[in-house]
Amino acid sequence: MCGIVGYIGCQQAYPILIKGLHRLEYRGYDSAGVALLDPNGKLNIYKSRGKVSDLERFCESKDISGTLGIAHTRWATHGEPNDINAHPHFNESGSLALVHNGTIENYAVLREALEEQGCVFRSQTDTEVLVQLIDYIRRSSGCTLLEALREALKQVVGAYAIALIDAEDPDTLLAARRSSPLVVGVGKDETFIGSDASPIIEFTNQVVYLRDDEIAIISRHKPLQIIDANNHNTEVDIQTLRLSVAQLEKGGYPHFMLKEIYEQPNTLHDCIRGRIVDGCRVQLAGVQDNAERFLQARRVVIVACGTSWHAGLIGKRLLQELAGIPVTVEYASEFRYSKPLVGPEDVVIAISQSGETADTLAAIKMAKESGAFVYGICNVVGSSIARETNTGTYIHVGPEIGVASTKAFTGQVTVLAMLAVALGQLRGTLSTEEAAEIAADISRLPDLITEALQVDDIIKSLSSTYTYVHNFLYLGRGYNFPTALEGALKLKEISYIHAEGYPAAEMKHGPIALIDNELPTVFIAPNDDLHEKVISNIQQVKARGGSVIAIVTKGDTAIPAIADHVIEIPPVAECLSPIIAAIPLQLLAYHIAVMKGRDVDMPRNLAKSVTVE
Ligand code: F6R
Repeated sequence: MCGIVGYIGCQQAYPILIKGLHRLEYRGYDSAGVALLDPNGKLNIYKSRGKVSDLERFCESKDISGTLGIAHTRWATHGEPNDINAHPHFNESGSLALVHNGTIENYAVLREALEEQGCVFRSQTDTEVLVQLIDYIRRSSGCTLLEALREALKQVVGAYAIALIDAEDPDTLLAARRSSPLVVGVGKDETFIGSDASPIIEFTNQVVYLRDDEIAIISRHKPLQIIDANNHNTEVDIQTLRLSVAQLEKGGYPHFMLKEIYEQPNTLHDCIRGRIVDGCRVQLAGVQDNAERFLQARRVVIVACGTSWHAGLIGKRLLQELAGIPVTVEYASEFRYSKPLVGPEDVVIAISQSGETADTLAAIKMAKESGAFVYGICNVVGSSIARETNTGTYIHVGPEIGVASTKAFTGQVTVLAMLAVALGQLRGTLSTEEAAEIAADISRLPDLITEALQVDDIIKSLSSTYTYVHNFLYLGRGYNFPTALEGALKLKEISYIHAEGYPAAEMKHGPIALIDNELPTVFIAPNDDLHEKVISNIQQVKARGGSVIAIVTKGDTAIPAIADHVIEIPPVAECLSPIIAAIPLQLLAYHIAVMKGRDVDMPRNLAKSVTVE
């Protein structure tokens, strides 16, 4: 949540910062701002409520010169999203500017202490407390800005990625992090910072991922210096990014979400590549290198949030059925404040697209402290979760920019399926033939998704029938109960229509009371072991006047005879059916949201990467 970007070098900073903010806008879009040090040493700070494009309009007639600058796009935590609460925040004299991603938990205490010393605050944010604190420490002790920053960071409790500039020092940009991501891009005679690599990749592929409690001292004329919490120089570990600018653009699609839905045949291909050997054996390095831990595992605990948690629910079924390991699935936000009783004999699987979700990160740290072995399933290479886990598997689906997760979900479930097969092979719960059969089915997923995407036009025309309903029910059973949860989440987050996912058979224990001719129900009903039972559930809805949209396997004749609308998906192994069934659900949510005129890629109140509690 919140995106920060910074630049120091020979080019004009403003265009680089604005472009960077557009790339980071998926992280928050309540307000945006920029601070630029002009050639005369004046710090110009411009802020605006709304999106980055609003900031650009605001800056049209302003002095935007300067080769040093920082900028921010906000997802509000403390204080409403208005111009004053927008970042950058500054000290009383306006000589220091700071942008921040994260939350300063003890900001109220610090603010009170500073007010007692005469500091006057303009905003309601936790961030202003930090910049005023740095300024106060520097003024009262006469120390350098770096020393004041170090001292201030010792006093704050919480998470931060920050960038700081000083009107009195046009040659330095300071950046620091704890629990919020920060990447430094090292160019020739210029340096960039970003919450992720997307604002940087256009200029350099040489990056350094800052670690917790490190401060980067970025100087115009000296090599990058990084110090740790003890003020010792640490190694500047420059890595080469494998990311292209094209991956960050819409590529002709009207929205990132639609592009990402359509990318899925390719992304799953990338996800599977090199992991299914000879078309029949699954090979995951993280499993092979840690075979003993997996062989001895008493149980698996999956921790994740949101869509990743839904993938985890499917993973539970896969791991239990194919690898014979008991699995529990926890919301990371609940796990971290519970007594989960994990220990050295447990494997904890953390699933996260961004690899930065604060709750999941906290759950991992807790699991590691209890001695558990932690396996990560992440998308973003080099992310905090990828680095914090003992080992893991990247889903390799490329940057996901639309706020609603689509290709990450199918990638996560695919990795979980491969993991279940790998563990089944290792633990002897799957015969060679059984493993080979599922591995072959996994290899076919990209083609099946291509086929599933062919229903797009049907879904588009069906969507117009349902644009103005107020509630939806999504029902599924077995492997597709979590698919129902995911379908409902997709619809509600981008269309703002209330939608609830439920196990189809649980409907009769309460939600059936909601059914009438104004409540459509989406059934995820492919041909599987529970198909007959789901048909009965559909009958129950129809008997009460409800309309039914059913996702069925091609060739099904029973459900089309009773449902109002049918969307066909190609036949697929039951344990992989959520991956294919997710496609029409993503398209349904997308088209309804577009018809309602919603901002599909940036739905209200949301942010892509949830780095606060
Ligand atoms: C929904 C969605 C969110 C995320 C959740 C976890 O479409 O994207 O529910 O799944 O915020 O994020 P990650 O996977 O980055 O940990």
